[in-house]
Amino acid sequence: MKIIDSTDEMACTRPIGVFDSGVGGISVLQELIRVMPNENYIYLGDSKHAPYGTKTLEEVRRLSFENARVLLEQGAKGLVVACNTATSAAVRLMRNRYPSLPIVGIEPAVKPAALQKEHPKVLVMATPMTVEQEKFRLLMQRYEDQADIYPLPCPGLMEFIEAGDLESERLHDFLEELLHPYLSYGLDSVVLGCTHYPFAKKMIRKIVGEQVTIFDGGAGTAREMCRRLTLAGLRNPSEEKGWVHFENSLATDAELELCQRLLVQEIVDE
Ligand code: DGL
Repeated sequence: MKIIDSTDEMACTRPIGVFDSGVGGISVLQELIRVMPNENYIYLGDSKHAPYGTKTLEEVRRLSFENARVLLEQGAKGLVVACNTATSAAVRLMRNRYPSLPIVGIEPAVKPAALQKEHPKVLVMATPMTVEQEKFRLLMQRYEDQADIYPLPCPGLMEFIEAGDLESERLHDFLEELLHPYLSYGLDSVVLGCTHYPFAKKMIRKIVGEQVTIFDGGAGTAREMCRRLTLAGLRNPSEEKGWVHFENSLATDAELELCQRLLVQEIVDE
């Protein structure tokens, strides 16, 4: 396997490998392209094994390492784990396995949400596995004095996005039922702690209202990858727009079409 070698002069023109349990990480890929448009990307979606958020820790670790192997075999110069679940389960172990490789994960954007104003009320939507992990408990503990933080596991939500459903009535009803108990709390912000959820942002916004700020970690992850590649001397010097290659473990035309569609899908902002 071609793990990055700093004496390799062509290393910086190699692609950045990005993976997720499915199509959700394309919300992070959008940010990566915004920050580093001249880089090349291989995006691997493991839709065949999705969802990860309701699997065992061991299983998510095994699948994450398998995704990393596939991307590294194709010469990736760094990895973006564009999945909160896989990040909490496996990113530390991956860094141990590949110490010289820039590896950046994503975690729920609790920090900016908690520091947004004086003692805000923050709802964190994420997969069951993400909210159960030690990493998330520590993140909550860090900000518990500054904010009221409510973790909300959302099993079943990513499946809508995997099916390409971003705005059906069924999705609306699903979200309404999920969010309804919190609507009387006077929420200040909602954190989208799973990379699939930004694709449902329009619908979430409709339910929680305009006064609530919605955060996700995609932009921060993209900036961190840019910083790491720059430090490692691995930024692509090309001034041309880079390319994106999609791979999906389902490998059907419909799945690859969905990837293309989500790449240009506008994620509505404040
Ligand atoms: N997109 C993934 C995340 O950010 C998880 C979805 C899943 O596979 O359950 O957590």
